[in-house]
Amino acid sequence: MGKLVLKGIAVGCAVMSCVIAGVMVGRRVRSRRRWWNVVTTVEEFEETAETTVERLRQVVDAMVVEMHAGLASEGGSKLKMLLTFVEKLPDGSENGIYYALHVGGTNFRILRIQLGGQRSILAHDVERKPIPQILMSSTSEEFFDFIALSLKEFIERKGDNMQLSQDRGKDLGFTFSFPVKQTSVSSGTLIKWTKGFAIEDMVEKDIVECLQKALSIRGLDMNVAALVNDSVGTLAVGHFLDNDTVAAVVIGTGTNACYIERADAVIKCQGLLTTSGGMVINMEWGNFWSSHLPRTSYDIDLDAESQNPNDQGFEKMISGMYLGDIVRRVIHRLSLESDVFGPLSSKLSTRFVLSTPLMAAIHEDDSSDLSQVAKILEETLDIRDVPLKVRKIMVKVCDVVTRRAARLVAAGIVGILKKISRDGTGGISSGRIKGYKSGKMRRTVVAVEGGLYTSYTIFREYLNEAVAEILGEEIAPYVILKTMEDGSGIGAAMLAAANSARSVDTVQVL
Ligand code: BGC
Repeated sequence: MGKLVLKGIAVGCAVMSCVIAGVMVGRRVRSRRRWWNVVTTVEEFEETAETTVERLRQVVDAMVVEMHAGLASEGGSKLKMLLTFVEKLPDGSENGIYYALHVGGTNFRILRIQLGGQRSILAHDVERKPIPQILMSSTSEEFFDFIALSLKEFIERKGDNMQLSQDRGKDLGFTFSFPVKQTSVSSGTLIKWTKGFAIEDMVEKDIVECLQKALSIRGLDMNVAALVNDSVGTLAVGHFLDNDTVAAVVIGTGTNACYIERADAVIKCQGLLTTSGGMVINMEWGNFWSSHLPRTSYDIDLDAESQNPNDQGFEKMISGMYLGDIVRRVIHRLSLESDVFGPLSSKLSTRFVLSTPLMAAIHEDDSSDLSQVAKILEETLDIRDVPLKVRKIMVKVCDVVTRRAARLVAAGIVGILKKISRDGTGGISSGRIKGYKSGKMRRTVVAVEGGLYTSYTIFREYLNEAVAEILGEEIAPYVILKTMEDGSGIGAAMLAAANSARSVDTVQVL
């Protein structure tokens, strides 16, 4: 009897152990499966976002084709290829004191520079101010009043540091980083807003008139001598510092590029007379689109939920406004599919909660335990106590998003170089340029501005690496990307200098 009881207990224990082991194995299998799902989803994302050099070359060619189409006719391409009426870039001889205002991203900048000729900037004062969110969708009057008042306060604060000459010191360059249909170098109407701005009554209004009016209401007697896109300002300062600068790229909240084009290539404006035979073209490349772009389901969702669906497709894969949000979308999907990020955090459904600077901080966390990643996950996304392997997944997702963006910018840059025969191939269909065959490849400088390039090291490295990869090792050494801090604002002041000194009517459209 005693033996029987003992046997029973032993059997019971064995069954119990089997059940517990079974449950544990089951759990482990399920957890492995969940982890496997996460890995597979990330791998699929990586595959769809892949930018092989072959694919980048297709993007280069698509960019060239679209540039031709945009120059051939109004509306001929998603690339607007806008005239800027800037036909002469600063060459370093400019001097005097000039002001500039820069509106374009989350910050508004006011600058004053003193140029001393011989490529010298004797003094440079800059003040940054965040644009209150509410003003980004207010009325044009409120918006421009904020700008005029900020300028007035700036002048009052800094007024005596530099000697303000009565006549020349009052010229102002206005960098307005949105698509503008220019009617001269100092006038133009807003085509549409981008980057989250939505002041509806501004669309199709003359921007300089609005600013000029606001300035006079605030009692400021200033002359807006140049209205420029930020890419054009960047090109201007690039050229001021180095005559070999032929193009400029901005990669900040938004993205864009401009370059010097031959006047006769601007077919949509036949008879365009310029004294120099060329003109800077504002490509508005943020709106570029091609079927060769590696678009993922996350991009499609981001676009559909944006303020401007079907617009600015290239920008939405590249620029600072969106990269963090692509990462957030991937993490959200992973959290829905598995519990590796813990219980589903409601923060993951909030658009733009993960900004691109935070994403860069995750990506560039070089601590062995990825403590920075853990901190951001906790503080920004309410995701706590995730193991190291999950933090690594987070870094991986940032890497995929950033690498794709940087490499697409590289393809865009090479596209411009190809269009103007500076990529060593001599244009869209012909062979190498004469100069190169005879061993005289020209030095080509591209000015680059914007936080993604200047402050995000991995982004910059990916971009530089991809430019070299696409161009090949023979050509790459002749192409130099130069960083321009605050270039767009300084460049606008320089263009104001160039345009206050001479007649604005040197350019005519016949
Ligand atoms: C605007 C461009 C601007 C770029 C960079 C884009 O959203 O359309 O005009 O140059 O952002 O600021």
